[in-house]
Amino acid sequence: MSEDLSRRLGALGITEKIKPFSDCNLEGNPIDIFKSYIADQLSQISGSDPNTILDALETPLKPENGDLIIPIPKLKLKGNPNNFATQWSEKVFPTSSLISSTNASGVFLKFFFSDSYLKNIVLKDIYTREALYGQNESGKGKKVIVEFSSPNIAKEFHAGHLRNTMLGAVIANLHESCGWKVYRMNYLGDWGKQFGLLAIGFERFGSEEELANNPFEHLYNVYVRINSEAEAEEVKINAAKLLVKENGEEYTRPENNLHDLARAYFHKMENGDESALSLWKRFRDYSIQRFKTNYARLNVHFDEYSGESQVSNESIDKAMKILDSKGLLVRDDGAVLIDFNDKKLGKAIITKKDGTTLYLTRDIGAALQRYEDHKFDKMVYVVASQQDLHLAQLFKILEKMEYPWADRCLHVNYGLVKGMSTRKGTAVFLDDILKDTADKMHEVMRTNETKYHQVQNPESTAHIVGMAAIIVSDMSGKRNNSYTFSWDRMFNFEGDTGPYLQYAHARLCSMERNSEFRLEHLSAADFSSLNERQAINLLRILSQYPDVVLSAFKTQEPSTIVTYLFKMTHCMSSCYDVLWVANQPHHIALPRMALYRAARVVLGNALRLLGITPVERM
Ligand code: ARG
Repeated sequence: MSEDLSRRLGALGITEKIKPFSDCNLEGNPIDIFKSYIADQLSQISGSDPNTILDALETPLKPENGDLIIPIPKLKLKGNPNNFATQWSEKVFPTSSLISSTNASGVFLKFFFSDSYLKNIVLKDIYTREALYGQNESGKGKKVIVEFSSPNIAKEFHAGHLRNTMLGAVIANLHESCGWKVYRMNYLGDWGKQFGLLAIGFERFGSEEELANNPFEHLYNVYVRINSEAEAEEVKINAAKLLVKENGEEYTRPENNLHDLARAYFHKMENGDESALSLWKRFRDYSIQRFKTNYARLNVHFDEYSGESQVSNESIDKAMKILDSKGLLVRDDGAVLIDFNDKKLGKAIITKKDGTTLYLTRDIGAALQRYEDHKFDKMVYVVASQQDLHLAQLFKILEKMEYPWADRCLHVNYGLVKGMSTRKGTAVFLDDILKDTADKMHEVMRTNETKYHQVQNPESTAHIVGMAAIIVSDMSGKRNNSYTFSWDRMFNFEGDTGPYLQYAHARLCSMERNSEFRLEHLSAADFSSLNERQAINLLRILSQYPDVVLSAFKTQEPSTIVTYLFKMTHCMSSCYDVLWVANQPHHIALPRMALYRAARVVLGNALRLLGITPVERM
């Protein structure tokens, strides 16, 4: 234990010996002080390994079940768990000053923290660590690449990409909160035959002016038009082919049809043809420029705009050689494929007959390149569950290539967003979604004229609160669940929504503004009079935040944080009924205000982790 820590614990009046188990973050997580103490004591009584005990300790959902609970069967001891629970609850714990009581309930042993320690440890920790409260250093010295967003530049940036972007941002933030060094990578869909088709479309009915003004929408329109022409052409070709075959004649595909032209164009791109590449590069540059403004509005940034086009021929060739030398490639009528000999994984084409690469091929090359460049300890792919098979194939290939880092790759997937169209029901572009959201939020804010006039910059507040609405509605459920987007539900101030959380934050800020206390009073407050049940409950919830971050990190599940925030804000609203600050004597008002401020810090930290900027007025 560091000297600083023992001094700190001593200052809190903790005289018990607290052992620094490697799984305990005594500096950053107040609950770990209790955990470490329990593990040490219980291991002496039960003979179990303290680490097994630490693993088994859980935070119960309901406060009446204690602050920590342990299912005795998890200790795998010989004997009756119920009896153990009863025996142990009577034995040692009640005499300790950290734990106020220990109860047996069936096979469970429940621990209740002592209120006075809870107050001192948790509130002092929040005041000392402020923005850092909730973070830990478990990933210190490790590097992760988080690949996310990754839209396709010729196609629309749809609701799924928005979901991806928000989720990826949280996954990246979560890693940072756990001490990892994070490299945020956007892997654009900027390569492939569809760019050949797009280029041909642009040559036919594109406009330079529109490309400069509104690249997404223009490229999208061109793409939709040329695609539908190409499809119509294919339908005709297929009909003609059928007819010819019925007559028993030999069919020859007509020349210069769009798909063949597109293929030829992409072939030129892959062979480095300058003019083909220069048009393609302009599409890419314009699109990235435009993406950047939108990402800025989403509060998201990337360390690199990579993409399928950035995968070098060398890394693909290298991958092919390794695959070949391990006997993994099968040749079939000019095409090259991998047969996984596995029902689920099936077969995958690696290069086409004309030698061009595919999405999967580029992903293999990209992974090699990324490892060369970054020597990552982990690489996270945030990609929709529709691509589960694709990523499973990719990871299997890396494993078969015997890269020792193959098992450091992780797919974080998510379900579909259904029904997200703009309010007018037109096609969805990110700009439209963002604009609609801000407009709608602005309308809602206007319904309270007095408050509205106090907001300094209503447009930007509307945008920020609107983003909170989208993010929270998106992350309320588990990421793997699909959900249906609803404009009305997510703006409701009373329900469990983003605006509700923002409102809770703004309300706490306003209390702080109206109170006479300054930070130095609050941080030095004496909490001994803070004994109401509501206050202690709020305190217990605040103490759980560092564990909530850790658990969200372990499962890569932002909903854990959202659920926590509703639990906390609901508890806070029951505090408002009882714990008044205004017109109270100083010695009562001060510790209450200090508690509210601590809650505001935790709420703000959690919102920022979710990619939401907390507002001070709304
Ligand atoms: N661009 C793809 C899409 O929009 C997602 C890319 C996912 N990442 C990857 N490395 N394959 O569907």
